[in-house]
Amino acid sequence: MTIENVLHENRRIAPPADFAASVKWTKEAYLREYRRSLEEPDAFWSDVANELTWFTPWTRVLDWQAPHARWFVDATTNVAYNALDRHLAAKGDLTAIVWEGEDGVVTRTTYRELHAQVCRFANALSSIGVSKGDRVTIYMPLVTEAIVAMLACARLGAIHSVVFGGFSSSALSERIKDAGAKVLVTADGGLRRGSAVSLKASADTALQNASSIEKVVVLKRLGTDVAMQEGRDVWWHDLVEGQPSEHQAVPVDSEHPLFILYTSGSTGKPKGVLHTTGGYMVGAYLTMGAVFEPKDSDLFWCTADIGWVTGHSYVAYGPLLNGASIFLYEGAPNHPDMGRFWQMIERHNVTILYTAPTAIRSFMRAGDEFPNAYDLSSLRLLGTVGEPINPEAWMWYYKTIGKERCPVVDTWWQTETGTIMLTTLPGAFDAKPGSAGLPMFGVAPDIVTADGQPLGPDEGGFLILQRPWPSMLRTVYGDDERYKKTYWGELPGMYFAGDGARRDADGYVTVVGRIDDVLNVSGHRLGTMEVESALVAHPAVAEAAVVGRPDEVKGEAIVAFVTLQAGATCTDDDLRRHVAREIGAIARPDEIRFAEALPKTRSGKIMRRLLRQIASGQETSGDTSTLEDASVLDKLRRSPGVTGN
Ligand code: PRX
Repeated sequence: MTIENVLHENRRIAPPADFAASVKWTKEAYLREYRRSLEEPDAFWSDVANELTWFTPWTRVLDWQAPHARWFVDATTNVAYNALDRHLAAKGDLTAIVWEGEDGVVTRTTYRELHAQVCRFANALSSIGVSKGDRVTIYMPLVTEAIVAMLACARLGAIHSVVFGGFSSSALSERIKDAGAKVLVTADGGLRRGSAVSLKASADTALQNASSIEKVVVLKRLGTDVAMQEGRDVWWHDLVEGQPSEHQAVPVDSEHPLFILYTSGSTGKPKGVLHTTGGYMVGAYLTMGAVFEPKDSDLFWCTADIGWVTGHSYVAYGPLLNGASIFLYEGAPNHPDMGRFWQMIERHNVTILYTAPTAIRSFMRAGDEFPNAYDLSSLRLLGTVGEPINPEAWMWYYKTIGKERCPVVDTWWQTETGTIMLTTLPGAFDAKPGSAGLPMFGVAPDIVTADGQPLGPDEGGFLILQRPWPSMLRTVYGDDERYKKTYWGELPGMYFAGDGARRDADGYVTVVGRIDDVLNVSGHRLGTMEVESALVAHPAVAEAAVVGRPDEVKGEAIVAFVTLQAGATCTDDDLRRHVAREIGAIARPDEIRFAEALPKTRSGKIMRRLLRQIASGQETSGDTSTLEDASVLDKLRRSPGVTGN
């Protein structure tokens, strides 16, 4: 395998002529509507929203009391109604979900069947006391029923909080407590790399100190033996037994919360990002439609887990709101080998693939023989999300997977933005490998200095968004101060994304990465704080500092500097296992360096900049005059690095 060295980044890839000729969103259509979305936002958003069903109309499109927005004020609607009922007459028999288990089992669910399943589960949840405003935590493998559970909550006006099935029991417990969830929906387990992941056992541990949960609904995915607690736990199949397959979707206010999704910040515990109904629905509907333009003949595969925002907006809500057919795969990309994705694309005729740069890089590394062994001619469009994509990986994706026939869209957005904010529409503009590109409708990005001054072309600075958009987060659940401070406090009047970026003379934005203490490991956001807290919770650890080091496949690798309690001993493997238990395998440090002391300022602040330089093998540079004990740096540089994973 060769890796192309792209020395000049001004390469442009034009959309194939037949693709460009087939799209609704041409360059002219985009330019006209983008302009209208900024100049006449009320008219623009009303037109989009009117493509969906509302039970009561809005009195105003936007009420903006910075930094709090209310969109489609006073309107009522229901997202599940729009994702399902709205399509029944025209698309009842169209496939909504093709699901493949890691063991190769395949199920197909039509829109009519999905509607019936969601109605039955909504009735079932209602029978155990779930109603509007209640929080329901979902901790499941990637199975059709996970989407059923989300939509059933939406139908009832209950607020779902999906927790990634790879998170540990303590991470789950913390999220249940923060949300004050009443019901937990889980499964006996799921399959990952050929083995069973025991979700129910992990949930049981989590529930030992999460007392808000009254009922646990357990899906039988594997048929393994699990302990069921009398009075608290109930099997999914028993609960839906006899429930009617009709259910009247509950009309909720446009600003009624739809879901909470926890994400990492630079300080403290994970933030419960809160999204509401009307604006999120309109954003997910519009962006899915504009970027991917799914047709009935398409099979759309977004490879994210529903535990992440990408899974919310482009596995579940966006595609279903557009009446698209989606593909869902439960397991690991390398099971039984690195050809699994390509084999499934051939077998199911997947037409649109939306995945992460980290996955692309690991496929690229595995070798072209895997994709080359399969017929990928069903593909017509490719997308990436989650982290910056390096031009070599972009070109590999474009050539080896897309055979230079399929446009590649690089989409920048965040848990907080809810939906895609930057991308070049695939039939409208040339792609520039490595650059996310142009703003979506209603999005006004800018690149500014630390004090908010706009920067010129190609100057690097902070990425900000200048006005509210429908799918923006509304607050941090239970902590509005943190919302104001984190996102709107840094640069008054501007939404601060926490990313560094630059913009070229054509207006294409290239996002280069986080500027706060947040790592992006395989496209997942992890706060250095969370990993540090997990480390110091180990009895042998006195202090820990965690930094990222550039990694060819994962984007960033986690390096932890640890000092031990006097007289204590433990190995790096002990600590790595400990972090995996506390947070989940994704947070397991790649390298642990034991040190006698950490570099600190005289006021006791750990100098991460220096640790980052040491972790990536660079010379330490910059100002070290505030360092309390300069000899610490030498010792750290000499301390043996232990690499693992
Ligand atoms: O740093 C940016 C990076 O991922 C962060 C958002 O992470 P999360 O909330 O977990 O959502 C991921 C999926 C939307 C951003 O602040 N990021 C996401 N997409 C891109 C990206 N960086 C560069 N290019 C992208 N296309």
